[in-house]
Amino acid sequence: MSVMIEAENVRFTYPGAASPALDGVSVAIERGAFTVVLGHNGSGKSTFAKMCNAVLLPDEGSVSVEGMDTRNEELLLAIRQRVGMVFQNPDNQIVANVVEEDVAFAPENLGVPPDEIRRRVDASLHAVGMDEFVTHAPHLLSGGQKQRIAIAGVLAMRPDCIVLDEATAMLDPMGRREVLSTVRRLNREQGITVLLITHHMNEAEDADRVLVMDDGRIVMDGTPKEVFSRVEQLRDTGLTVPETVELLDRLCQDGMPMPLDALSVDECADAIANALARKG
Ligand SMILES: Nc1ncnc2c1ncn2[C@@H]1O[C@H](COP(=O)(O)OP(=O)(O)OP(=O)(O)O)[C@@H](O)[C@H]1O
Ligand SMILES: [Mg+2]
Repeated sequence: MSVMIEAENVRFTYPGAASPALDGVSVAIERGAFTVVLGHNGSGKSTFAKMCNAVLLPDEGSVSVEGMDTRNEELLLAIRQRVGMVFQNPDNQIVANVVEEDVAFAPENLGVPPDEIRRRVDASLHAVGMDEFVTHAPHLLSGGQKQRIAIAGVLAMRPDCIVLDEATAMLDPMGRREVLSTVRRLNREQGITVLLITHHMNEAEDADRVLVMDDGRIVMDGTPKEVFSRVEQLRDTGLTVPETVELLDRLCQDGMPMPLDALSVDECADAIANALARKG
């Protein structure tokens, strides 16, 4: 598998800050992967996200996007086109009064010809399930719909990778589900690499890989099952453990040996049923 984004020993301190926001981050994000980044407030997630499309540059170390060094100014446009960002606040990301104009904004700035823009706008809105809203006013949409429009705007640049920085944080549960299923579909059906930063553990359940950040470092890296079964370490980094794992951990402590890697309610129920069958 080829590498989409590679960070090598990245260190970065904001001007005037006492301690580094990134303190030796090395990681390779594989093309086509769905990676979730977790970490408590201030652990460096957004700073890392901004490194991924050259909004911030490392003080030391390097970041490359499809082999392009983010410090090379001549590659800046190409890098920003390859890696699209979606942020937390849906209202801050809307730039036009009509959905189709909003989605067309980035390709227009890139100088894409009008008929190609039309194709891209239609395809992008279709990909996020918002075809019927082409001529709607974005400010009248729900939060989840606005975020899907923001994603369509990124898709219209034809990116290889989308970085979502807490893009579901301001949404209600339904909006969150809409956005997540859209992103998963883009990953599975179009092979778009996804880096999803979130506080919601359950959004990590079916990721290919989970990275946990703490104090500007990546302190855990593995499949969701590997990461979530390390209950003590998760607690040490100030993260809550998924409720299913919490329950199994409690049962273990009460003398009922349990695997700690059941992330869904179904898996959790199976694990308990199996343990009871073994006992009986
Ligand atoms: N513009 C800035 N100027 C100075 N320090 C900053 C700036 N932005 C972030 N920091 C600091 O850098 C560190 C990492 O912040 P960052 O925003 O990357 O964390 P985060 O994991 O995204 O947090 P959150 O979960 O709150 O979004 C924190 O100590 C934060 O206070
Ligand atoms: Mg952040």
